[in-house]
Amino acid sequence: MTQDQLKQAVARAAIEYIKPKLGGDSIIGVGTGSTANFFIDYLGEIKHLFAGAVASSDASAARLKNLGIDVLDCNSVSELVVYVDGADESNAYLHLIKGGGAALTREKIVRAVSKEFVCIADGSKWVDVLGKFPLPVEVIPMARSYVARELVKLGGTPVYRDGVVTDNGNVILDVYNLQIIDPVGLETRINQITGVVTNGLFAAQGADVLLLGTNDGVKTLYPR
Ligand code: 5RP
Repeated sequence: MTQDQLKQAVARAAIEYIKPKLGGDSIIGVGTGSTANFFIDYLGEIKHLFAGAVASSDASAARLKNLGIDVLDCNSVSELVVYVDGADESNAYLHLIKGGGAALTREKIVRAVSKEFVCIADGSKWVDVLGKFPLPVEVIPMARSYVARELVKLGGTPVYRDGVVTDNGNVILDVYNLQIIDPVGLETRINQITGVVTNGLFAAQGADVLLLGTNDGVKTLYPR
């Protein structure tokens, strides 16, 4: 199967996974990226089963609206029944790296508001140790150089993602050469650097379930 076919398979599996959890007044959290886009497209087929969605990016909000799905402001919602999104890496604890699409901060907010995070990913995202994928860090533009120097002190090699401005008006540093042995510790440490909005480690609050697309079918994995 191609990577896109694996993404489609997990997106389809996510629809089946969430269906029993939905009621007429349910609001769903919806993520960002190519896997999330497949999920959004399938979500259109069951839009009569829920009330609306909160999106983790302007792009996903536009895609949802195009399908006739109501998109709500996160501030008007007290709880999301479920959040479905992709990832750049996952380990066996379902600690994730996210933010390849620069939506990490809104993704973390949607995750925080959701009762359950269903991660959908093709098998290439499964790793023993997080960090081969450069860790995205969203930074207030004025603090870019300072934050980069602090990230070097932590052993990483930060690279400015040229030309990218997040939906929140900030910039992204992608941190290479990290071997993330303690994801919760590093997530906390990086978030303490002044000027950091957030980083792409989803470890303190990781995924609750991972639907992983493999050539042997979609595996349903829970945190070790
Ligand atoms: C966006 C993300 C995405 O979930 C992540 O980059 C995976 O993307 P894709 O589904 O295109 O492989 O975190 O900020």
